[in-house]
Amino acid sequence: MKQIVPSFCSSSSSSLISLLLAIFLCISPTQSRISVKIGSNVLSQICAQTEDPNSCLKDLQSDHRTASTDLYGLAQVSINLANATGNETKTKIKSQLGQTTDPTLYDKYLKCLDSYVNAVSKINYANERWSIKDFLALEAAASDCLIDINSCKDVTPPTSPFLPQQNDKSHLLCNIMSTIAKRLAAGNN
Ligand SMILES: *[C@@H]1O[C@H](CO)[C@@H](O)[C@H](O)[C@H]1NC(C)=O
Ligand SMILES: *[C@@H]1O[C@H](CO)[C@@H](O)[C@H](O)[C@H]1NC(C)=O
Repeated sequence: MKQIVPSFCSSSSSSLISLLLAIFLCISPTQSRISVKIGSNVLSQICAQTEDPNSCLKDLQSDHRTASTDLYGLAQVSINLANATGNETKTKIKSQLGQTTDPTLYDKYLKCLDSYVNAVSKINYANERWSIKDFLALEAAASDCLIDINSCKDVTPPTSPFLPQQNDKSHLLCNIMSTIAKRLAAGNN
């Protein structure tokens, strides 16, 4: 195919049929082979469907891969970002536990640690599903991640200097994962 197509394309076709055939052969294989790079309009469309469009754009654009990837690649960018934030939050909670003496507060941080351990495991499961292109399971794992973050939100001490912000950030990233997974599952890429 690779060798036939170029010579066919460059030959001057006299009849209408061979001209149409040439157009078909020259254009269609190229279109079906190339994965579509995410344009800024599609990126905006995706982020507009999330709970915080501006932060969504900022988060996704913080990864250099976003500029040159397709929708499938963007899903992994969102998975990696959610994973990093989940891990960062876990680390912060552990350090807070070491400084908390009030038993009620301690219990709340412990519950949140448990929620984030679960969330990070959902995110890594999501990555496994992503790698075999099981987009429905990817979407389900992203929803489970949102449930885990919400269970921490429910007990988060409002006086915590970091947890409300980390919850918002983590919730948004799982929301972005879920939004991209839905698009992939719908074949809308
Ligand atoms: C999540 O982060 C851990 C380290 O923090 C890494 O070992 C793991 O591969 C990451 N997983 C994904 C899906 O990014
Ligand atoms: C998780 O995050 C902490 C702090 O942000 C970092 O030091 C650590 O390397 C990360 N990875 C793992 C696997 O804990």
